[in-house]
Amino acid sequence: QSLKIGLIPADGIGKEVIPAAKAAIIALGSDIPKPEFIDLVAGWETFTRTGVALPDETVEILRNECDCALFGSVSSPSRKVVGYSSPIVALRKKLDLYANIRPVVSVAPEVDQKPAVDLIVVRENTECLYVKEETLIDTPNGKEARASRLITERASRRIGQMAFQLANARPRKHLTIIHKSNVLSVTDGLFRETVRGIKSLPANDGKFNGVTIAEQLVDSAVYRLFREPEIFDVMVAPNLYGDIISDAAAALVGSLGLIPSINAGDNFVMGEPVHGSAPDIEGKGIANPLASIRSAALMLRHLGYTEGADRLDLAVNQVIREGRFLTPDLKGTSTTEEVLQAVLSKI
Ligand code: NAI
Ligand code: MG
Repeated sequence: QSLKIGLIPADGIGKEVIPAAKAAIIALGSDIPKPEFIDLVAGWETFTRTGVALPDETVEILRNECDCALFGSVSSPSRKVVGYSSPIVALRKKLDLYANIRPVVSVAPEVDQKPAVDLIVVRENTECLYVKEETLIDTPNGKEARASRLITERASRRIGQMAFQLANARPRKHLTIIHKSNVLSVTDGLFRETVRGIKSLPANDGKFNGVTIAEQLVDSAVYRLFREPEIFDVMVAPNLYGDIISDAAAALVGSLGLIPSINAGDNFVMGEPVHGSAPDIEGKGIANPLASIRSAALMLRHLGYTEGADRLDLAVNQVIREGRFLTPDLKGTSTTEEVLQAVLSKI
């Protein structure tokens, strides 16, 4: 039996950090079924070469041949490019990876020099403003752009269910619902009501009775995240707010280069570092590989390979605590390769 892992480094530093995650997985040896890696393409470079950002073949192989996948990062242009749309957004939809789960934990406050943080952001991954229904029209007063936002009861319920499960498995069992229903009472109102209602769903049979629910408007949630991050345990949010909150939370523990995530559905899981393609450091060999290695750990944990996941996390945490081999984003002077070697030696 083997574990088939699709690898999609995509663009920029994705090509530097995904090979590091691959090496770390291989180093686990018999903790996991023998890994088999399948190299797949997607991204901006793929688009400029072939005219397609996410080839059908990549999706088909993920669907039919892989047990899980690791995705690097894409360099999406900020301007509109005809025919291009972000492959990661498309992949989440095509594989129905409806939950984006991002733990943000400070392992070494002495390195971070920030307050101790231990929280998970659970972000809805398929709708909200990211349905990308945008229009642009000319009016007598100039151009007018609009975007529509989709919130459904179904998607809110399944992300809420996932968030309750995660909260219930943690010591504090505390769930904070992030929304802005004082302004967007219809869309955010539906999200809030649906998630709140999960606790008393007959199907859940009281199993979430121990979970306490709080809610926080998204703007003040960011404020409180910076002032008193310890009040948060599991945070659940619609797509856009979740995107912003998880990057903001990342700032609390030092660097985007440390924060892992998984995109999870009922049948597939894809690990993905939270950071982008980092054009400012691309090709210099100094990208922090730890977010990708941790993403591999999260992916394995989601699949039930707890021992392998623990070993990866422990190795990463030891390297951070020792502080000898850190990349420049963590005020160190090491290269990607040196940090990887340090992690491999701990594994
Ligand atoms: P970014 O995450 O690429 O970079 C932000 C800052 O963090 C930069 O200074 C970068 O050097 C640093 N950084 C990020 N990851 C790092 C790592 N592993 N090691 C060391 N330093 C790291 O975000 P930015 O600049 O907003 O976006 C750049 C490109 O990435 C854009 O084209 C954007 O569309 C894309 N992007 C892609 C994402 C994805 O693939 N899921 C997510 C975010 C952005
Ligand atoms: Mg983001």
